[in-house]
Formats: sequence, structure tokens, C-alpha cells
Amino acid sequence: MARTPRQLALAYDELDTAADLSPAERLVWDAARAATAHAYAPYSHFFVGAALLLADGSVFRGTNQENAAYPSGLCAERTALFGLAAAQPGHPPIVGMAVAARPAQGDFGPAMPCGACRQVMLEYEAQQGQPIPLLLPSRRGSIMRFASVADLMPFTFQADDLPGVSEQ
Ligand code: THU
Repeated sequence: MARTPRQLALAYDELDTAADLSPAERLVWDAARAATAHAYAPYSHFFVGAALLLADGSVFRGTNQENAAYPSGLCAERTALFGLAAAQPGHPPIVGMAVAARPAQGDFGPAMPCGACRQVMLEYEAQQGQPIPLLLPSRRGSIMRFASVADLMPFTFQADDLPGVSEQ
């Protein structure tokens, strides 16, 4: 049997500073950072904020919500997405997303969404049928800009992988 080596390229832009963002990007970027003030993180002391820019120009925020029973807590990305879907059914499309993170005392640092959050981001992107552009603070202090959340989640499991579900 033939073996075919393959490689995958992930596309994103890297911006030096927030000054390089468009006004709409700057809005959602700043909202994610501001949201960290409302994180509930008494156990990790790691304050995460996520912001969603909607097509009507409004911004919806999420923060990580921790719990004494640790696994019961939830990441900021998912509180934002689940919160929006629950609070505003039929909301305008999400046209931008940003994440920010910082320790309780200290400066903003990298914020890479966990695998579970990437899976959830992908679900809502597929549901709305248009890409969710994403801004993330990188490990080296720059801004990573993805045109679609699918760009950081290859080889995904989605609705059409469930036999019979997508036809319903
Ligand atoms: N956390 C997020 O909110 N988003 C991420 O992408 C990674 C981790 C939260 C979960 C938990 O409250 C804390 O950060 C430490 O893992």
C-alpha cells in the first residue's frame, strides 16, 4: 500500500500591535480585554475575556466562570458563544471574535482557545454559514488574525459526520 506524506498549512496574519487593526477589529479586541475584568476565576486567577462582534455593530462578551467543582466551570469563549445563543436567539451573524487573557495581577498575555472551545466556535460558524474572523494574542506579543475559526481547527468533527443528522 502506498504511503503519501502530506502537510497542512494554517493561514493567518500576524499584526505587530492593536494599532494595526481596523476600527471594527479594534472594537472587538478592546472589548475582549475589558471583559477580563469580569472573569470569575477565584481558583486559577487566570482572567479570560472573549468578545463577539455582531453584524449590527453590537458586542457580546463572555468571561471564564470557575467553580469549586473544577470541571463545572467554563471558558470565556464558550460563555460568550453559549450566552449569545441563549440570550439572543436569531441574533445577527457574528462578524468578529477576540480573546484576551491575563493573570489577576499582571499584563495581558497569550490566549489560545482550548480544543473544546475551538469545537464550539466551529459549530456556530457552520450554523451561521459565514466565517467568524478571530483575533488572538500570540505567545510573542503580536496579534494573530484568522479569517475563519476553521483555520485553527483542522480535521474537525461536524454535523455532517453524524449519519442522517444533517438531512434532518
Ligand atoms: N480558559 C478560558 O477561559 N479560555 C481558554 O481558552 C483557556 C482557559 C479558562 C478556564 C479556566 O477558568 C482558566 O482559564 C484556567 O484554565
